[in-house]
Amino acid sequence: MAGEESKGRGIAGGLTNYGDPDFAAYLRRSFARSMGYSNEALARPIVGIANTYSGFNNCHRHFPELLEAVKRGVLMAGGLPVEFPTISLGEVFLNPTSLKFRNLMAMGTEEMIRAQPIDAVVLMGGCDKTVPAQLMAALSANVPTVQLVGGPMSTGRHKGERLGACTDCRRFWARFRAGDIDQAEIDVVEGRLATTAGTCAVMGTASTMACIAETLGLALPRSAAIPAVHADRLRCAEESGKRAVELIGTKELLPRQIVTEQAIENAWRVLLAISGSTNAVVHLTAIARRAGIKVDLNRLNRLSDETPVLVNLKPVGNNYMEDFFAAGGVPAVLRELRDLLHLDCMTVTGKTLGELVDEPLLDQLDRTIIRSREDPVDPDGGLVAVFGSLAPRGAIVKRAAAEKRLLEHEGRAVVFSSLEDLSARIDDPDLDVGPDDILVLQNAGPKSAAAMPEAGYLPIPRKLAAKGVKDMVRISDARMSGTAYGAIVLHVAPEAAVGGPLALVRNGDRIRLSVAERRLDLLIDATELEARRAALPHAPARERRGYDRLYDEHVLQADEGVDFDFC
Ligand code: FES
Ligand code: MG
Repeated sequence: MAGEESKGRGIAGGLTNYGDPDFAAYLRRSFARSMGYSNEALARPIVGIANTYSGFNNCHRHFPELLEAVKRGVLMAGGLPVEFPTISLGEVFLNPTSLKFRNLMAMGTEEMIRAQPIDAVVLMGGCDKTVPAQLMAALSANVPTVQLVGGPMSTGRHKGERLGACTDCRRFWARFRAGDIDQAEIDVVEGRLATTAGTCAVMGTASTMACIAETLGLALPRSAAIPAVHADRLRCAEESGKRAVELIGTKELLPRQIVTEQAIENAWRVLLAISGSTNAVVHLTAIARRAGIKVDLNRLNRLSDETPVLVNLKPVGNNYMEDFFAAGGVPAVLRELRDLLHLDCMTVTGKTLGELVDEPLLDQLDRTIIRSREDPVDPDGGLVAVFGSLAPRGAIVKRAAAEKRLLEHEGRAVVFSSLEDLSARIDDPDLDVGPDDILVLQNAGPKSAAAMPEAGYLPIPRKLAAKGVKDMVRISDARMSGTAYGAIVLHVAPEAAVGGPLALVRNGDRIRLSVAERRLDLLIDATELEARRAALPHAPARERRGYDRLYDEHVLQADEGVDFDFC
């Protein structure tokens, strides 16, 4: 393409015209030339590369090398690669929670795609909130886009077993809390859980969103699962750069043409079949909303009834993303789900999903990792929504990750009114709690001060953990890490902070969970609930400014994806 007439608009694209367009173009070219570009380079179409490298994002540690590969691909295809930074969200280093900043990253990314002279964009993301933010941005900006994920970490070793962040982080911490391993051992384990670049090594939120990006058709086939440190990851980055150039000038491969209602439904199917992260329910809802598609949690339940869990990875099963990659990855899952998918959905490759599914697998299918439809890990999908007097607009249960007996359970509520209350009392030896009780956490939803943290995986009270209790029903308006597991009911909507029924639960109330009936009920009569509602104290208004204020004024509930109402 070099030397040919540019398909894209190049460096002078998208100029604001203050009356003399030639002067504006001349000025822009002269500043671009100050960076050492030749006229030949500046004549090329421009592929912007959103680089989310950050010293506060361990998962993106390898992005400098990945970026070089994307650039190489862009140059090979005749484009000019121009990287730009955006906000990066490193999951564990953000307060109060990374989710609060997902929408900020989505807005920043969207606006930079729009404002800069970009003909196509490669979005480099990976850690939990980064890929959802970038997909939301891509749909709103709607310029040719290839999503490139960083890929999962490889596992570490400890006493002959493999360790991967962060399901094993929790497993070892639970053993430490129960007094099963000592301080010296947990210190050693701490250094062996996350040992390479890349995102968490299990089917957590990052890997789930990578699989969703691939299924939606915005990331290249097979790209979700390639390990971060594998040479194929670099080849995939190169190919993503090349493909971005090829997308320029095509009229039918824009993000909003690729992410249709059918593509979103395919993504739900894959989410269910991989038994992906509960966080992905929030993110996929927000992504769909950016494409103008409303998500109905009843629809999720219908899909869940028809879509078996096929992938045997932690936290639901036994294996790691490196095994999923070697076993065939997303292409193998799509092939297994073929008759349930909308195969005419278009992808960035220019081929339909059906055409991709018909291509031979590059990897050796391994049935211990990716099961057949006839022999699934679980005949029902991994996630369901429940509704009822405690969650009128729904709540989410990852049934595949729970002790089965707890999915049909009635028990006595033990209530914690906030995160502070939870940490002050959960390990109190005098806490009135037994193994059949239901732990309830209030005020941890989107509008709470903590902005819907991953606090829904309430710890088992220490005195019960010491007696060997491993799982209890736990209910909250919070989220849970994609790497966590248990009989956990999340995303209760409306949340306690806006006066949802969750705010009205008191110690000793009976609560009934029936996943079979899709119900979550507070067994208290309506008049008593009204009296409690009338007596609810008014939370004192907090002084808020800046982004915190924008967030508070505009954030939506979990069933609307926790996006902003104006996006
Ligand atoms: Fe980045 Fe888990 S911390 S993906
Ligand atoms: Mg996570």
